[in-house]
Amino acid sequence: MDKMIKTATLSFNGKSIELPMLQPTVGPEVIDIRKLYAEGDVFTYDPGFTSTAACDSAITYIDGDKGELQYRGYPIEQLAEQSHFLEVCYLLLYGELPNAAQMQDFEHRVTNHTMVHEQMHYFFRGFRRDSHPMATMVGVVGAMSAFYHDSTDISDPWQREVAAIRMIAKLPTIAAMAYKYSMGQPFVYPKNSLDYASNFLHMCFAVPCADYVVDPILSKAMDRIMMLHADHEQNASTSTVRLAGSSGANPFACVAAGIACLWGPAHGGANQACLEMLREIGTVENIPEAIRRAKDKNDPFRLMGFGHRVYKNFDPRAKVMKESADEVLDLLGIHDNETLKVAKELERIALEDTYFVEKKLYPNVDFYSGIILEAMGFPTSMFTPIFAVSRTVGWISQWKEMIGDPTQKIGRPRQLYIGQTARDYVAVNDR
Ligand code: CMC
Repeated sequence: MDKMIKTATLSFNGKSIELPMLQPTVGPEVIDIRKLYAEGDVFTYDPGFTSTAACDSAITYIDGDKGELQYRGYPIEQLAEQSHFLEVCYLLLYGELPNAAQMQDFEHRVTNHTMVHEQMHYFFRGFRRDSHPMATMVGVVGAMSAFYHDSTDISDPWQREVAAIRMIAKLPTIAAMAYKYSMGQPFVYPKNSLDYASNFLHMCFAVPCADYVVDPILSKAMDRIMMLHADHEQNASTSTVRLAGSSGANPFACVAAGIACLWGPAHGGANQACLEMLREIGTVENIPEAIRRAKDKNDPFRLMGFGHRVYKNFDPRAKVMKESADEVLDLLGIHDNETLKVAKELERIALEDTYFVEKKLYPNVDFYSGIILEAMGFPTSMFTPIFAVSRTVGWISQWKEMIGDPTQKIGRPRQLYIGQTARDYVAVNDR
């Protein structure tokens, strides 16, 4: 017996069209409108994609109302507590948790690719020292396709795999180099005896003239930041990577496009913007004015680190991040720092204020990650590059999933045209 296929009926202009309803394993059903233009001669309109699923995916699931985030079905809280970043990378890339031998092999493969081509050092030198590290990263990651062109043939599964490993392995090295370059300090080569997060801290904070020992609590906090940012289904930068990749562009170019998109303050740039906002507010006495401005429709000011397109209850990443923030601040003995006081008071007031409560604007992951990163000694300009390092595995997993899908097509949205209708050209002297 044929399985009953559910449909939705769309009626307009005296026509009626039956549209199939696709069933997810969990989450809202999806109305399949692919035949709508061919059969109904109409488009749908959804700028910002608030009601549009642009692909199917088996990687990450978010329930925004319940505040749930799962990677391949595993709740983020369990992963943050029991897993580590490279294991999460394996999970996102290959779909299952690795056994011990698989983990060892994966770690070995990533570790063996942490160095960048020596000529890249000269490439960095073309940037101004005061460049934002995100600007440098967009350029250098885009240029990876020039340095590693033996892994840019996307039709070859082996090259796709090598490109994925190269990016996971080299992005921390590139981010750390961007930081060192901006500080005028020598580049620090990766140290493969260290775990992924410790190696990143080492490349950022070690200098040739002194020993640097990574504190395990800081390394654990960095590893958590990386896990919590590793993927977030079809967010703006991931959709950018998919759209760039849909034309057949190589993965290094696609990830560079993702980094460019992540940079914006509404997305990954929010962690930098949030900390700068806290500093600008300066003291607890100035908070009411900040809250007043955030509510004022005529003022573009927003409380950075608050609100989320999908989470309308709470951001589960923020909960875990808050615990890490407390641990790191305790370790470093930071208790009465003025920025922290402003953050805590702002969080308390915003959680009680009816504007924020009614609009479901809760602190998001970036509200707390900036506090941890600042305590670790990172300048605000490095916050978004660290997000980019962490999200690389998500971008590449989503890209890999898309390339492996035989039904994949080039992404090509349509528009609601509101410009002039056809008119005749007028010679310049007659205008
Ligand atoms: N401060 C003040 N008002 C806000 C804020 C905020 N941070 N966020 C949303 N609103 C208001 C907004 O003005 C709107 O009000 P109204 O309905 O009266 O017009 C309402 O809440 C809904 O906002 P929206 O802009 O339609 O919501 P969105 O889903 O398009 O935007 C967002 C989500 C994250 C871009 C937005 O909340 C925001 O700009 N937050 C600050 C930036 C930030 O922290 N971004 C990091 C997101 S988490 C990390 C990541 O995934 O990248």
